[in-house]
Amino acid sequence: MGVPNLEDLLSEGVSGRAVLVRSDLNVPLNDAGEITDQGRITASVPTLKALLDGGAKVVVTAHLGRPKDGPDPKLSLAPVAAALGEQLGRHVQLAGDVVGTDALARAEGLTDGDILLLENIRFDPRETSKDDGERLALAKKLAELVWPGGAFVSDGFGVVHRKQASVYDIATLLPHYAGTLVADEIEVLERLCSSTKRPYAVVLGGSKVSDKLGVIESLATKADSIVIGGGMCFTFLAAQGYSVGKSLLEGDMVQTCRNLLDTYVDVLRLPGDIVVTEKFGADSPPQFVAANAIPDDLMGLDIGPGSVKRFAALLSNAATVFWNGPMGVFEFPAYAAGTRGVAEAIVAATAKGAFSVVGGGDSAAAVRALGIPEGDFSHISTGGGASLEYLEGKQLPGIEVLGSAQPSGGDS
Ligand code: 3PG
Repeated sequence: MGVPNLEDLLSEGVSGRAVLVRSDLNVPLNDAGEITDQGRITASVPTLKALLDGGAKVVVTAHLGRPKDGPDPKLSLAPVAAALGEQLGRHVQLAGDVVGTDALARAEGLTDGDILLLENIRFDPRETSKDDGERLALAKKLAELVWPGGAFVSDGFGVVHRKQASVYDIATLLPHYAGTLVADEIEVLERLCSSTKRPYAVVLGGSKVSDKLGVIESLATKADSIVIGGGMCFTFLAAQGYSVGKSLLEGDMVQTCRNLLDTYVDVLRLPGDIVVTEKFGADSPPQFVAANAIPDDLMGLDIGPGSVKRFAALLSNAATVFWNGPMGVFEFPAYAAGTRGVAEAIVAATAKGAFSVVGGGDSAAAVRALGIPEGDFSHISTGGGASLEYLEGKQLPGIEVLGSAQPSGGDS
C-alpha cells in the first residue's frame, strides 16, 4: 500500500520517541465483564511490541463498545489493559481518563519501552462527533500526549471505516504510519478484489440484511455464488413468500430482498431447511423443518443439515472464499452445526489451495470458539464492517488519510 508504514517509522528510529497508536481492542465481554475472545488484542500485539522493543514510549488509544453518555464503568478498558499486559509480557498502565489530567501526567511520566493505555476513547463524545471542529479538538488533545516529536500509528483495522478523531483527524496532526495489522489486512483484501480466482464463493450471515445490503449488491456481480445464512436469511425467506414464525425479520427489507432475489437469481443461495425452536436459549430443544414450513410459534436459530451439506459441497470446490457472519447461534451448541459445517468446508477448500478470508469479529470469534485452528484459513480479518466496506469499494477515511501529506509539525 502506498502509505508510510511501521517499517518506515522504525527506520527513522523510535527510541525515546512518544508514539500514539490507535488499536482496535473492541473485544466481546460476558455478563461478568470478562473477555470472551482475545483475537483483536492478539492481533494488536506485533505493532506494539515492535515499537516497545525499539524503545518508544507508547500511548495506545482504543474503544470498547458504544458508550452513549460519557464514561460507563462497564465499558472501561481495565480488563483489556490486563489482558494486553499478559500478552505483551509487560505492565500496561491504564489512564483514569481519556485525555484529562491523569492521561497527561502518565504520558509525561513514560520512559523508553513503557506503554500506557488511555481509557475508552468513546467516553469522550467528541470522538464520534459529526462536527469536524469537535473531533479536531479531541485529536489535538491526543496529539498533546505525544508532543513534541511524536508520531501516530494507525493499527486499528476494525475502525478504519470510521471518520473519528482517533482514527482520522489525528492523522492530520501527527506524522502518520500504517501499523502492521492495517498494512496486512489491506494487502489481503486487495488480493481478494484484484486477483480473484474462480469459482468465487461468498458466505454471508449475521442478523441484519440492512448491514449487508451494500456488500451483497457489490459482490453479486463479482462472485459466482453468495450463500446466505444467519438471522438475515429469514428476511430473504419471507421475500420468497414463506412464513418465518418468530424468527428474526426485518419487515422493511422484504421488498429489497425480493428485488435482490429477482436480479441475482443465479448467484444467491438460501437454506432449504432450518433448525427451529420455541425460545431463544441454549437449552431450548431443536427441531428440523423445511425452510418453507417454519411453524408460526417457532423461531429459526440455525441453518439445517441439508443446507449445510449443500453449502459445503459448493464451498469445497471454491478457489476463493470470503466469509462474514455466523450461520446460526453458534454460542449454543445445539445451534452451532451450520457455522461449524460452513467453517469446515472452507477449511477443506483452503487445504486444496483456495484463498479463504474470514472477515469480521463474529465469524472470527466463531472460528476460535469452535476450536478450529486459525491457520486453517488463509486470513482471519479483525474488521467486520471495515472489511465489508473495503470489498464494497468504499473509500475508508482511516486509510485515505494515511495517504495524505505528512503534517509539517504540531503546535500543541
Ligand atoms: C467493530 O467491532 O467492528 C469495530 O471495533 C468497530 O466498532 P463500531 O462498529 O462500534 O464502530
